[in-house]
Amino acid sequence: MNLKKLVGHEAAKLVNDGDVVGLGTGSTTHYFIEKLGDRMKKEEIKIMGIPTSYQSFFLARKSGIPLTTLEEHDLDLAVDGADEVDPHLNLIKGGGAAHTLEKIVDASADKFVVVVDESKMVEKLGVFPVPVEVIPQALRVVEEQVKKMRGVPKLRMAQRKDGPVITDNGNLVVDIEFGLIEQPGELEIRLNSIPGVVENGIFTEMADKVIVGTAKGVDVLNRI
Ligand code: 5RP
Repeated sequence: MNLKKLVGHEAAKLVNDGDVVGLGTGSTTHYFIEKLGDRMKKEEIKIMGIPTSYQSFFLARKSGIPLTTLEEHDLDLAVDGADEVDPHLNLIKGGGAAHTLEKIVDASADKFVVVVDESKMVEKLGVFPVPVEVIPQALRVVEEQVKKMRGVPKLRMAQRKDGPVITDNGNLVVDIEFGLIEQPGELEIRLNSIPGVVENGIFTEMADKVIVGTAKGVDVLNRI
């Protein structure tokens, strides 16, 4: 069973006619966006999307979803993937280097729904290194500050290894290992207070619902 497809399609059921929807980035939201395009055609419903990356922008376009911006519309719902989810629905995101715009869009929505397969569920965040978007000129000084916080920074390289990953905003991504994170909310704030850091991939107290794909079907976790 394709669990990413299962949860992507499940999340598409939550969208109502007339909604403005945040379109997350990654291989799981790929299925959500495609399904939304299908629903628009088959059910003749009207939806508008706000993408969180060029990847979701182009996929939405291909899927026939009209796009808008945060400047023009409020968001009813945002659906996005994650790299780790803890029992309090705190997240690590940014595996696709899109976490800055994802955080802006996801945080702006009335309801933020996360779609993951069960491999992403953890007791504590931190096995997946924390992605941090960094202004290129600040790379060395940010790395120094991170080391003082006992983090181990690693510049993310492009798959071809011939240069660094460059984000949609023209910046670098540093992946930082902290070990298991006891206080994700505190770390989220501390990282963002380093000059040169644009945004980090810890998302605390944001997700309202997590749809988890398991071998037995779909599990839904709601924020209390
Ligand atoms: C991109 C993200 C993605 O949502 C996250 O990496 C999960 O991706 P996938 O659905 O491909 O596993 O945060 O920045």
